Amino acid sequence: MAKNTNKTSGLPIYIVNGPNLNLLGSREPEIYGRATLADIESLCAARAKSHGRSIVFLQSNKEGDLVEYLQEARGMSCGVIINAAGYTHTSVAILDALQMIAQPVIEVHLSNPAARENFRHRSFVSKAATGIIAGLGANSYLLAIDALAALGATRKKTAAKKTTAKKPKKNSGGRK
Ligand code: DQA
Repeated sequence: MAKNTNKTSGLPIYIVNGPNLNLLGSREPEIYGRATLADIESLCAARAKSHGRSIVFLQSNKEGDLVEYLQEARGMSCGVIINAAGYTHTSVAILDALQMIAQPVIEVHLSNPAARENFRHRSFVSKAATGIIAGLGANSYLLAIDALAALGATRKKTAAKKTTAKKPKKNSGGRK
């Protein structure tokens, strides 16, 4: 496995949770499962430890708080896992905050939004994510930790680098 040798090595994984996830366990268990957010936090801490990593596990029902957690993660984390919950589908502010993070970002969901209502098919978070894991309940979070560990020292900006296509030459008399 790649060794994390960049300057973020040793820093925790930030796991950022959005609105209503504080009610997991009793919130629509047929969709989100019976695990509470505290259960998921313990599972994440154990999985991170198995990779020699630690976590900072955060939740807020307020969009501005989530933006502040993400701003903090820029200098304080080796990578970010985000379940922005309902804000996934609406928040340009969260997208803007994610776009300023150079470390890998994994978007997670307990359910599979693509298989649900149309309004859940759009994700502002995906635009800034290195990868997406959805539909696997609490395992989505654990697999996201495995993914960050496997990515090692990869920087999101490098991984997602776009190759600029050559500008086509001006038409100099070809087909009209
Ligand atoms: C969710 C999916 C979102 O559409 C929803 O608004 C949530 C939870 C999930 O983890 O499945 O609150 O992010």
